Amino acid sequence: MGLPLAVMFATNGKRVCALDVDPDRLASISTGKMPFKERGCEPLLARALQDQSLFLSLDPAIASQADVVLIVVGTPVDRHLNPELAPLKTLLESYFKFMNDGQLIVLRSTVYPGTTDKLKSWISERGVDVELAFCPERISEGNAVEELRTLPQIVSSYSAEGLRRCRELFSSLGCEIVETEPIEAELAKLFSNVWRYTLFATANQFFMLANDHDADFYRIYHAMTYKYPRVQSMPKAGFAAGPCLFKDAMQLAAFNNNRFYLGHAAMLVNEGLPNYIVARLQARFDLASKTVGILGMTFKADSDDIRDSLAYKLRKILLFESHAVFCSDPYIRDPDFVSSGELLRRCDVIVLATPHGEYRALQIPDDKIVVDIWNFWEGGCRI
Ligand SMILES: NC(=O)c1ccc[n+]([C@@H]2O[C@H](COP(=O)([O-])OP(=O)(O)OC[C@H]3O[C@@H](n4cnc5c(N)ncnc54)[C@H](O)[C@@H]3O)[C@@H](O)[C@H]2O)c1
Repeated sequence: MGLPLAVMFATNGKRVCALDVDPDRLASISTGKMPFKERGCEPLLARALQDQSLFLSLDPAIASQADVVLIVVGTPVDRHLNPELAPLKTLLESYFKFMNDGQLIVLRSTVYPGTTDKLKSWISERGVDVELAFCPERISEGNAVEELRTLPQIVSSYSAEGLRRCRELFSSLGCEIVETEPIEAELAKLFSNVWRYTLFATANQFFMLANDHDADFYRIYHAMTYKYPRVQSMPKAGFAAGPCLFKDAMQLAAFNNNRFYLGHAAMLVNEGLPNYIVARLQARFDLASKTVGILGMTFKADSDDIRDSLAYKLRKILLFESHAVFCSDPYIRDPDFVSSGELLRRCDVIVLATPHGEYRALQIPDDKIVVDIWNFWEGGCRI
Protein backbone atom coordinates (compact mmCIF):
# COMPACT_ATOMS: atom_id res chain seq x y z
CA MET A 1 0.00 0.00 0.00
CA GLY A 2 2.93 2.32 0.64
CA LEU A 3 4.30 2.20 -2.89
CA PRO A 4 1.19 3.31 -4.84
CA LEU A 5 0.62 6.02 -2.25
CA ALA A 6 4.22 7.23 -2.66
CA VAL A 7 3.82 7.22 -6.44
CA MET A 8 0.57 9.19 -6.25
CA PHE A 9 2.02 11.82 -3.92
CA ALA A 10 5.05 12.13 -6.21
CA THR A 11 2.74 12.43 -9.23
CA ASN A 12 0.81 15.18 -7.47
CA GLY A 13 3.63 17.53 -6.66
CA LYS A 14 5.25 16.15 -3.52
CA ARG A 15 8.84 15.05 -3.23
CA VAL A 16 8.68 11.55 -1.79
CA CYS A 17 11.12 9.01 -0.42
CA ALA A 18 9.96 5.38 -0.36
CA LEU A 19 11.82 3.94 2.60
CA ASP A 20 11.86 0.18 3.10
CA VAL A 21 13.96 -2.53 4.74
CA ASP A 22 13.78 -4.92 1.79
CA PRO A 23 16.74 -4.30 -0.56
CA ASP A 24 15.53 -6.73 -3.24
CA ARG A 25 12.17 -5.05 -3.47
CA LEU A 26 13.72 -1.59 -3.69
CA ALA A 27 16.20 -2.78 -6.33
CA SER A 28 13.35 -4.06 -8.45
CA ILE A 29 11.28 -0.88 -7.96
CA SER A 30 14.32 1.23 -8.93
CA THR A 31 14.09 -0.21 -12.45
CA GLY A 32 10.63 1.35 -12.77
CA LYS A 33 8.86 -2.02 -12.46
CA MET A 34 5.98 -2.42 -10.04
CA PRO A 35 6.61 -5.52 -7.89
CA PHE A 36 2.91 -6.37 -8.02
CA LYS A 37 -0.06 -5.70 -10.29
CA GLU A 38 -1.45 -2.22 -9.73
CA ARG A 39 -3.44 -0.85 -12.65
CA GLY A 40 -1.93 2.26 -14.26
CA CYS A 41 0.78 2.64 -11.63
CA GLU A 42 3.87 1.52 -13.55
CA PRO A 43 4.11 4.48 -15.98
CA LEU A 44 3.60 6.86 -13.05
CA LEU A 45 6.33 5.08 -11.07
CA ALA A 46 8.76 5.26 -13.99
CA ARG A 47 8.06 8.95 -14.51
CA ALA A 48 8.35 9.80 -10.80
CA LEU A 49 11.72 8.02 -10.61
CA GLN A 50 12.90 9.77 -13.74
CA ASP A 51 11.95 13.28 -12.65
CA GLN A 52 13.20 12.49 -9.12
CA SER A 53 9.96 13.38 -7.42
CA LEU A 54 10.28 9.86 -6.01
CA PHE A 55 13.44 8.31 -4.68
CA LEU A 56 14.09 5.11 -2.79
CA SER A 57 16.09 4.48 0.36
CA LEU A 58 17.08 1.79 2.80
CA ASP A 59 18.47 4.35 5.23
CA PRO A 60 16.06 5.09 8.10
CA ALA A 61 17.97 8.32 8.85
CA ILE A 62 16.36 9.79 5.74
CA ALA A 63 13.14 10.11 7.78
CA SER A 64 14.72 12.99 9.69
CA GLN A 65 14.65 15.13 6.52
CA ALA A 66 10.91 14.74 5.92
CA ASP A 67 8.14 17.15 6.86
CA VAL A 68 5.71 14.24 6.85
CA VAL A 69 6.41 10.57 7.63
CA LEU A 70 3.77 8.01 6.69
CA ILE A 71 3.89 4.57 8.31
CA VAL A 72 2.42 1.87 6.05
CA VAL A 73 3.78 -1.39 7.42
CA GLY A 74 1.92 -4.69 7.67
CA THR A 75 -0.23 -5.21 10.79
CA PRO A 76 -0.94 -8.94 10.94
CA VAL A 77 -2.58 -11.07 13.61
CA ASP A 78 -0.58 -13.77 15.38
CA ARG A 79 -1.25 -17.53 15.55
CA HIS A 80 -3.76 -16.91 18.34
CA LEU A 81 -5.57 -14.50 16.01
CA ASN A 82 -4.59 -11.56 18.20
CA PRO A 83 -3.06 -8.43 16.72
CA GLU A 84 0.71 -8.24 16.70
CA LEU A 85 1.33 -4.98 18.51
CA ALA A 86 5.04 -5.36 19.24
CA PRO A 87 6.33 -4.89 15.65
CA LEU A 88 4.79 -1.42 15.38
CA LYS A 89 6.36 -0.45 18.72
CA THR A 90 9.72 -1.88 17.64
CA LEU A 91 9.46 0.03 14.37
CA LEU A 92 8.69 3.23 16.20
CA GLU A 93 11.60 2.64 18.63
CA SER A 94 13.94 2.36 15.67
CA TYR A 95 12.68 5.64 14.16
CA PHE A 96 12.52 7.80 17.31
CA LYS A 97 16.02 9.06 16.85
CA PHE A 98 15.12 10.29 13.37
CA MET A 99 11.97 12.15 14.41
CA ASN A 100 12.15 15.91 14.60
CA ASP A 101 9.99 18.45 16.37
CA GLY A 102 7.38 19.80 13.99
CA GLN A 103 7.08 16.70 11.81
CA LEU A 104 3.71 15.21 10.93
CA ILE A 105 3.67 11.45 11.57
CA VAL A 106 0.81 9.72 9.77
CA LEU A 107 -0.13 6.19 10.71
CA ARG A 108 -1.64 4.66 7.57
CA SER A 109 -1.66 0.95 8.45
CA THR A 110 -4.91 -0.64 9.61
CA VAL A 111 -4.54 -0.91 13.37
CA TYR A 112 -6.02 -2.39 16.51
CA PRO A 113 -8.24 0.38 17.92
CA GLY A 114 -6.40 2.53 20.42
CA THR A 115 -3.03 2.07 18.70
CA THR A 116 -2.86 5.73 17.64
CA ASP A 117 -3.38 6.80 21.26
CA LYS A 118 -0.57 4.41 22.29
CA LEU A 119 1.73 5.86 19.65
CA LYS A 120 0.91 9.32 20.95
CA SER A 121 1.95 8.41 24.47
CA TRP A 122 5.12 6.57 23.34
CA ILE A 123 6.09 9.60 21.30
CA SER A 124 5.42 12.09 24.09
CA GLU A 125 7.38 9.90 26.55
CA ARG A 126 10.34 10.48 24.24
CA GLY A 127 9.79 14.23 24.44
CA VAL A 128 9.43 14.61 20.67
CA ASP A 129 7.00 17.35 19.67
CA VAL A 130 5.36 16.02 16.50
CA GLU A 131 1.82 16.07 15.16
CA LEU A 132 0.42 12.55 15.05
CA ALA A 133 -2.38 11.51 12.69
CA PHE A 134 -4.21 8.34 11.77
CA CYS A 135 -5.42 8.30 8.16
CA PRO A 136 -6.39 4.77 7.12
CA GLU A 137 -5.72 3.33 3.67
CA ARG A 138 -9.02 2.28 2.10
CA ILE A 139 -8.15 1.41 -1.48
CA SER A 140 -8.55 -2.08 -2.83
CA GLU A 141 -5.44 -3.69 -4.29
CA GLY A 142 -5.15 -3.18 -8.01
CA ASN A 143 -7.26 0.01 -7.97
CA ALA A 144 -4.92 2.36 -6.08
CA VAL A 145 -4.34 4.90 -8.84
CA GLU A 146 -8.03 5.42 -9.46
CA GLU A 147 -9.14 5.18 -5.85
CA LEU A 148 -6.47 7.41 -4.30
CA ARG A 149 -7.81 10.19 -6.52
CA THR A 150 -11.47 9.55 -5.89
CA LEU A 151 -12.10 7.94 -2.49
CA PRO A 152 -12.61 10.44 0.32
CA GLN A 153 -9.74 10.31 2.79
CA ILE A 154 -10.61 9.82 6.44
CA VAL A 155 -8.19 11.93 8.48
CA SER A 156 -7.80 12.21 12.23
CA SER A 157 -5.34 13.93 14.52
CA TYR A 158 -5.04 15.43 17.99
CA SER A 159 -4.92 19.12 17.16
CA ALA A 160 -6.33 21.63 14.70
CA GLU A 161 -2.83 22.01 13.24
CA GLY A 162 -2.49 18.24 12.79
CA LEU A 163 -5.82 18.13 10.97
CA ARG A 164 -4.89 21.10 8.82
CA ARG A 165 -1.70 19.38 7.73
CA CYS A 166 -3.54 16.13 6.97
CA ARG A 167 -6.03 18.07 4.86
CA GLU A 168 -3.22 19.79 3.00
CA LEU A 169 -1.41 16.50 2.42
CA PHE A 170 -4.30 14.41 1.16
CA SER A 171 -6.16 17.08 -0.75
CA SER A 172 -3.07 17.23 -2.98
CA LEU A 173 -4.40 13.93 -4.39
CA GLY A 174 -7.59 15.72 -5.43
CA CYS A 175 -9.93 13.85 -3.10
CA GLU A 176 -12.46 14.90 -0.48
CA ILE A 177 -11.55 14.82 3.21
CA VAL A 178 -13.59 13.45 6.11
CA GLU A 179 -12.39 14.43 9.58
CA THR A 180 -12.85 12.23 12.64
CA GLU A 181 -11.29 11.48 16.01
CA PRO A 182 -8.48 8.86 15.86
CA ILE A 183 -10.58 6.14 17.52
CA GLU A 184 -13.40 6.85 15.06
CA ALA A 185 -11.04 6.57 12.11
CA GLU A 186 -9.57 3.32 13.45
CA LEU A 187 -13.04 1.84 13.87
CA ALA A 188 -14.31 3.22 10.55
CA LYS A 189 -11.55 1.31 8.76
CA LEU A 190 -12.12 -1.93 10.66
CA PHE A 191 -15.92 -1.70 10.43
CA SER A 192 -15.68 -1.19 6.66
CA ASN A 193 -13.58 -4.30 6.14
CA VAL A 194 -15.59 -6.42 8.54
CA TRP A 195 -18.84 -5.25 6.96
CA ARG A 196 -17.64 -6.65 3.65
CA TYR A 197 -16.36 -9.80 5.31
CA THR A 198 -19.73 -10.50 6.95
CA LEU A 199 -21.57 -9.85 3.66
CA PHE A 200 -19.36 -12.41 1.91
CA ALA A 201 -19.96 -14.83 4.78
CA THR A 202 -23.71 -14.39 4.48
CA ALA A 203 -23.60 -15.25 0.79
CA ASN A 204 -21.31 -18.21 1.49
CA GLN A 205 -23.58 -19.52 4.23
CA PHE A 206 -26.63 -19.17 1.95
CA PHE A 207 -24.73 -21.04 -0.75
CA MET A 208 -23.90 -23.95 1.57
CA LEU A 209 -27.40 -24.02 3.03
CA ALA A 210 -29.01 -24.13 -0.41
CA ASN A 211 -26.55 -26.73 -1.66
CA ASP A 212 -27.18 -28.93 1.39
CA HIS A 213 -30.84 -28.96 0.38
CA ASP A 214 -30.13 -29.82 -3.25
CA ALA A 215 -30.95 -26.32 -4.44
CA ASP A 216 -28.79 -24.24 -6.74
CA PHE A 217 -27.89 -21.06 -4.86
CA TYR A 218 -27.55 -19.15 -8.12
CA ARG A 219 -31.13 -19.84 -9.20
CA ILE A 220 -32.18 -18.48 -5.82
CA TYR A 221 -29.75 -15.58 -6.19
CA HIS A 222 -31.28 -14.67 -9.54
CA ALA A 223 -34.81 -14.96 -8.18
CA MET A 224 -33.89 -12.73 -5.23
CA THR A 225 -31.99 -10.03 -7.06
CA TYR A 226 -33.94 -9.77 -10.31
CA LYS A 227 -35.47 -6.27 -10.29
CA TYR A 228 -35.56 -6.33 -6.50
CA PRO A 229 -33.55 -3.33 -5.32
CA ARG A 230 -33.33 -4.21 -1.62
CA VAL A 231 -30.97 -7.16 -2.07
CA GLN A 232 -28.80 -5.83 -4.89
CA SER A 233 -25.83 -5.57 -2.53
CA MET A 234 -25.77 -9.32 -1.88
CA PRO A 235 -22.45 -10.68 -3.10
CA LYS A 236 -22.04 -14.00 -4.84
CA ALA A 237 -20.52 -16.92 -2.97
CA GLY A 238 -16.76 -17.41 -3.26
CA PHE A 239 -13.49 -17.43 -1.39
CA ALA A 240 -13.32 -14.33 0.82
CA ALA A 241 -9.76 -14.01 2.02
CA GLY A 242 -6.59 -12.01 1.46
CA PRO A 243 -4.30 -9.95 3.64
CA CYS A 244 -7.00 -7.71 5.14
CA LEU A 245 -10.51 -8.98 5.73
CA PHE A 246 -9.77 -12.01 7.89
CA LYS A 247 -7.18 -10.33 10.08
CA ASP A 248 -9.20 -7.15 10.46
CA ALA A 249 -12.21 -9.16 11.64
CA MET A 250 -9.92 -10.80 14.18
CA GLN A 251 -8.46 -7.45 15.28
CA LEU A 252 -11.96 -6.17 15.94
CA ALA A 253 -12.85 -9.35 17.82
CA ALA A 254 -9.73 -9.03 19.98
CA PHE A 255 -10.60 -5.39 20.62
CA ASN A 256 -14.02 -6.46 21.86
CA ASN A 257 -12.59 -9.06 24.27
CA ASN A 258 -13.44 -11.81 21.80
CA ARG A 259 -17.14 -11.06 22.12
CA PHE A 260 -17.69 -10.36 18.45
CA TYR A 261 -19.95 -13.21 17.51
CA LEU A 262 -20.78 -11.91 14.07
CA GLY A 263 -17.09 -11.49 13.17
CA HIS A 264 -16.13 -14.92 14.44
CA ALA A 265 -19.11 -16.50 12.71
CA ALA A 266 -18.11 -14.79 9.44
CA MET A 267 -14.58 -16.10 9.84
CA LEU A 268 -15.79 -19.67 10.44
CA VAL A 269 -18.06 -19.55 7.41
CA ASN A 270 -15.54 -17.98 5.03
CA GLU A 271 -12.58 -20.05 6.18
CA GLY A 272 -14.76 -23.17 6.16
CA LEU A 273 -15.74 -22.92 2.49
CA PRO A 274 -12.74 -24.93 1.16
CA ASN A 275 -13.47 -27.68 3.73
CA TYR A 276 -17.13 -27.65 2.70
CA ILE A 277 -16.29 -28.05 -0.98
CA VAL A 278 -14.04 -31.01 -0.26
CA ALA A 279 -16.58 -32.64 2.06
CA ARG A 280 -19.28 -32.33 -0.60
CA LEU A 281 -17.03 -33.78 -3.29
CA GLN A 282 -16.30 -36.70 -0.97
CA ALA A 283 -20.00 -37.21 -0.40
CA ARG A 284 -20.60 -37.37 -4.17
CA PHE A 285 -17.85 -39.73 -5.29
CA ASP A 286 -14.63 -41.42 -4.35
CA LEU A 287 -12.46 -38.31 -4.14
CA ALA A 288 -9.42 -40.35 -3.13
CA SER A 289 -9.28 -41.74 -6.68
CA LYS A 290 -9.77 -38.40 -8.44
CA THR A 291 -7.30 -35.82 -9.70
CA VAL A 292 -8.40 -32.30 -8.85
CA GLY A 293 -7.36 -29.07 -10.54
CA ILE A 294 -7.51 -25.67 -8.85
CA LEU A 295 -7.85 -22.77 -11.25
CA GLY A 296 -6.64 -19.48 -9.80
CA MET A 297 -4.45 -19.30 -6.71
CA THR A 298 -4.44 -15.60 -5.83
CA PHE A 299 -6.72 -14.25 -3.14
CA LYS A 300 -8.83 -12.32 -5.62
CA ALA A 301 -9.45 -12.15 -9.34
CA ASP A 302 -6.99 -10.48 -11.72
CA SER A 303 -4.49 -9.95 -8.90
CA ASP A 304 -1.05 -11.50 -8.38
CA ASP A 305 -1.30 -11.49 -4.59
CA ILE A 306 -1.41 -14.92 -2.98
CA ARG A 307 -1.31 -13.71 0.62
CA ASP A 308 -3.81 -15.63 2.75
CA SER A 309 -5.49 -17.01 -0.35
CA LEU A 310 -8.00 -19.75 0.43
CA ALA A 311 -6.98 -21.52 -2.78
CA TYR A 312 -3.88 -22.67 -0.86
CA LYS A 313 -6.01 -23.97 1.98
CA LEU A 314 -8.08 -25.87 -0.58
CA ARG A 315 -4.92 -27.31 -2.10
CA LYS A 316 -3.68 -28.43 1.30
CA ILE A 317 -6.91 -30.28 2.09
CA LEU A 318 -7.05 -31.83 -1.38
CA LEU A 319 -3.43 -33.01 -1.18
CA PHE A 320 -4.57 -35.09 1.76
CA GLU A 321 -7.96 -36.20 0.48
CA SER A 322 -7.66 -36.65 -3.29
CA HIS A 323 -5.47 -38.70 -5.60
CA ALA A 324 -3.51 -35.71 -6.95
CA VAL A 325 -3.82 -31.94 -7.19
CA PHE A 326 -2.79 -29.58 -10.00
CA CYS A 327 -2.76 -25.82 -9.63
CA SER A 328 -2.71 -23.09 -12.25
CA ASP A 329 -2.59 -19.32 -12.16
CA PRO A 330 -1.59 -16.99 -15.02
CA TYR A 331 -0.22 -14.42 -12.58
CA ILE A 332 1.93 -16.66 -10.38
CA ARG A 333 5.28 -18.12 -11.31
CA ASP A 334 5.54 -21.40 -9.47
CA PRO A 335 7.44 -24.34 -10.96
CA ASP A 336 4.84 -26.70 -9.48
CA PHE A 337 1.97 -25.03 -11.34
CA VAL A 338 0.74 -26.11 -14.76
CA SER A 339 -0.99 -24.20 -17.55
CA SER A 340 -4.78 -24.06 -17.48
CA GLY A 341 -4.82 -26.23 -20.63
CA GLU A 342 -2.76 -28.96 -19.00
CA LEU A 343 -4.86 -28.74 -15.85
CA LEU A 344 -8.05 -29.24 -17.84
CA ARG A 345 -6.52 -32.23 -19.63
CA ARG A 346 -5.21 -33.98 -16.55
CA CYS A 347 -7.88 -33.42 -13.93
CA ASP A 348 -11.23 -35.12 -13.29
CA VAL A 349 -12.53 -32.33 -11.09
CA ILE A 350 -12.00 -28.62 -11.75
CA VAL A 351 -12.47 -26.11 -8.92
CA LEU A 352 -12.51 -22.46 -9.90
CA ALA A 353 -10.92 -20.90 -6.82
CA THR A 354 -10.20 -17.45 -8.31
CA PRO A 355 -12.26 -16.16 -11.24
CA HIS A 356 -9.54 -14.42 -13.28
CA GLY A 357 -11.05 -12.64 -16.29
CA GLU A 358 -9.03 -14.71 -18.73
CA TYR A 359 -10.74 -17.91 -17.57
CA ARG A 360 -13.94 -16.63 -19.15
CA ALA A 361 -12.98 -18.13 -22.51
CA LEU A 362 -11.84 -21.53 -21.20
CA GLN A 363 -13.47 -24.47 -22.93
CA ILE A 364 -14.08 -27.07 -20.25
CA PRO A 365 -14.61 -30.60 -21.58
CA ASP A 366 -18.08 -32.01 -20.83
CA ASP A 367 -16.74 -35.00 -18.93
CA LYS A 368 -15.24 -32.85 -16.16
CA ILE A 369 -16.83 -32.22 -12.81
CA VAL A 370 -16.81 -28.46 -12.38
CA VAL A 371 -17.13 -26.55 -9.12
CA ASP A 372 -17.86 -22.91 -9.92
CA ILE A 373 -18.75 -21.42 -6.54
CA TRP A 374 -18.72 -17.92 -8.11
CA ASN A 375 -21.14 -18.82 -10.92
CA PHE A 376 -18.47 -17.25 -13.11
CA TRP A 377 -19.43 -19.39 -16.11
CA GLU A 378 -23.10 -18.84 -15.32
CA GLY A 379 -23.96 -22.51 -15.24
CA GLY A 380 -24.98 -22.40 -11.57
CA CYS A 381 -23.26 -24.40 -8.87
CA ARG A 382 -24.35 -27.63 -7.25
CA ILE A 383 -21.76 -29.67 -5.41
N1 LIG B 1 -3.23 -4.91 1.05
C1 LIG B 1 -4.36 -4.22 1.01
O1 LIG B 1 -5.22 -4.40 0.14
C2 LIG B 1 -4.61 -3.12 2.04
C3 LIG B 1 -5.64 -2.22 1.82
C4 LIG B 1 -5.87 -1.23 2.76
C5 LIG B 1 -5.07 -1.19 3.91
N2 LIG B 1 -4.06 -2.09 4.09
C6 LIG B 1 -3.24 -1.99 5.29
O2 LIG B 1 -2.03 -1.35 4.91
C7 LIG B 1 -0.95 -1.85 5.72
C8 LIG B 1 0.15 -2.32 4.82
O3 LIG B 1 -0.30 -3.42 4.07
P1 LIG B 1 0.53 -3.98 2.84
O4 LIG B 1 -0.32 -5.02 2.21
O5 LIG B 1 1.04 -2.87 2.01
O6 LIG B 1 1.77 -4.65 3.64
P2 LIG B 1 3.16 -5.19 3.02
O7 LIG B 1 3.67 -6.16 4.01
O8 LIG B 1 2.94 -5.61 1.60
O9 LIG B 1 4.10 -3.91 2.96
C9 LIG B 1 4.74 -3.39 4.08
C10 LIG B 1 6.11 -2.90 3.68
O10 LIG B 1 6.72 -2.34 4.83
C11 LIG B 1 8.09 -2.69 4.80
N3 LIG B 1 8.65 -2.55 6.14
C12 LIG B 1 8.57 -3.42 7.18
N4 LIG B 1 9.23 -2.95 8.25
C13 LIG B 1 9.76 -1.75 7.88
C14 LIG B 1 10.55 -0.78 8.54
N5 LIG B 1 10.95 -0.95 9.80
N6 LIG B 1 10.93 0.33 7.87
C15 LIG B 1 10.53 0.51 6.57
N7 LIG B 1 9.77 -0.37 5.90
C16 LIG B 1 9.38 -1.49 6.55
C17 LIG B 1 8.09 -4.11 4.27
O11 LIG B 1 9.37 -4.49 3.80
C18 LIG B 1 7.04 -4.02 3.17
O12 LIG B 1 7.60 -3.66 1.94
C19 LIG B 1 -1.56 -2.93 6.60
O13 LIG B 1 -1.88 -2.39 7.86
C20 LIG B 1 -2.81 -3.33 5.87
O14 LIG B 1 -3.78 -3.85 6.73
C21 LIG B 1 -3.80 -3.03 3.15
